[in-house]
Parts: sequence; structure tokens; C-alpha cells
Amino acid sequence: MAKEELPEFDKYKYYVESVQNPEEDAKFLAKVYREIKGKTPKKLREDFCGTYATCCEWVKINDHYQAVGVDLDSEPLEYGKKNYFSQLNDHEKNRVETKQQDVTKMSGGEYDVINAMNFSYFIFKEREKLKEYFQSVYDSLDKDGMFIMDIFGGSDVEVESVEETEYEDENFSYYWDHHSFNPIERHSIFHIHFKRKGEPKREEVFTYDWRVWTIPEIRDVLKEVGFKNTHVYWEGTTDDGEGNGEFKRVTSGESGCESWIAYIVAEANVSEAN
Ligand SMILES: C[S@@+](CC[C@H](N)C(=O)[O-])C[C@H]1O[C@@H](n2cnc3c(N)ncnc32)[C@H](O)[C@@H]1O
Repeated sequence: MAKEELPEFDKYKYYVESVQNPEEDAKFLAKVYREIKGKTPKKLREDFCGTYATCCEWVKINDHYQAVGVDLDSEPLEYGKKNYFSQLNDHEKNRVETKQQDVTKMSGGEYDVINAMNFSYFIFKEREKLKEYFQSVYDSLDKDGMFIMDIFGGSDVEVESVEETEYEDENFSYYWDHHSFNPIERHSIFHIHFKRKGEPKREEVFTYDWRVWTIPEIRDVLKEVGFKNTHVYWEGTTDDGEGNGEFKRVTSGESGCESWIAYIVAEANVSEAN
């Protein structure tokens, strides 16, 4: 019997299936804004947007929602245009824009929400550079605007390891390879590998060279550039200690956690609805 031909390898398809949930992300951003501000947001800027999948989900939530995706690289932007933007109806398309630009050079726009997901701001290894970025975010927000970013940590952050996740229904495995960690500077190299069933492993499909920042460091820099208040949304746990995907606003996290993901939410101004 002839061997079944696999479709061409599409790295962004496997990426989104493994590490992103644009629909849930867009809903989460809107929910957090409503929870803290007591009103509905409208304008989103998705920084480091890659394929701008979250922008495309944002405009589906509400007829008035608008989104701008910002990324330096034309390749994921083109992919997003072909695979996500093209699926929108005309009314939705009219409310999505992209800018191929450096996020640190953005200003203005009076956005309600600016987000930076999948730890993308970890590329800024120097405090001054991180501060320059946060300043540009602050300067682009509406007076009631908020900046939402994710962050990870836990004792595993200091340990090199490779974690495999099998997607049996999809016939592929995803590998999160924590390749190196330098405890002096907290600089780390991470790789994503994929392996489709019946094929050799595809090594280093994505590579990240990051500084693994901590929550208090981030909060300090946010405060310095003018943000008036910050909140942390921490993930709940299932009975067997795994993350349950539900994030709640907390004032303290759990100790002894080997690996956690949280969101930091920074308000340009303190909200009366808080
Ligand atoms: C880790 S990917 C994140 C993609 C998407 N936001 C997500 O949540 O999966 C990081 C993206 O940031 C972009 N990038 C890196 N430095 C940038 C900069 N200074 N300005 C704008 N985009 C940048 C890269 O081109 C890449 O698409």
C-alpha cells in the first residue's frame, strides 16, 4: 500500500495548536478589562503579534471592537493575512490593521488594551530597553487603558529540560526545550521542536533568547514609567496539582510551585471599579 503523504509542514499551524489559544486569549483580555474597569473595551493593540490571530479573534467578539497587530517580521504577518484575516467577513476585516514595526517605536493610539503574549517582551534583556518598551506602551494607552502580559516562573525555570507533549489526535509531538539557563543574568535559550508521526524530529523550529524576568522586577519598571496600579492573575489548580486554565486576580501566589504561568495587568490610571 502506498505510504500516505503528509501535507507540507506548516510551522505556524503546529505553533498555534501547541502554545496559543487566540480565541480564549481575546476573550480573556476583554474579560479582564471589564472586570477592572467596569466597562467594555474597544481598541486592542497586539504587540509582537506574529500571525495576529488574537486581533482576528478580538474583532469577532463585538461589532465595535478594533485591533492593530504590531510585529517586525513580515513572514508571520503574511501568514496571518492568508490564514486568519482572510477568514473574516468584510465588517470584521475593516476593523483589523497590522503594522510591520518595532514595538518600542510605537506611540499614540489611545488603546484600551495593549497585550504582549507568549513572554515576547523577554527579548529585552536590559532594564533600560524593557523600560523604553513599557514607556511606549504607557504613552499609547487611553487614560483608562491597560497593558496585559503573561509571565512564567517557578523552580523549574532554573533547570534545563526537554518536555514533550503528544497530540495524539493530530499525530504530532511538541517539545519545549529549555536549553540553557544562566543564573547570574537569568538569560535563557529555549527551543521548540516538532515531530510528526512517521517523520524525523524537526529541531529548533522556533528559538527564543530571553531574560527570564520576575514579577516584582516587571512591576517596578511598570511603576517607573507611570502605571498607577498592577494586578496579578494566577492560575487555579486541579485536584492533582496541574494548572486548570482559570486565572483569578490574587495578592499572593502559591509557594513551592515548580512551574507557573501568570498575567500581569497594569492600569494607566487607577479605576474606580476596582
Ligand atoms: C514569541 S513570538 C509571539 C507571537 C504571538 N504574540 C504569540 O502569542 O504566540 C514573538 C514575535 O515578536 C516579534 N518581535 C520580536 N521583536 C520585536 C520588536 N522589537 N517589535 C515588534 N515585534 C517583534 C517576532 O517577529 C515574533 O513574531
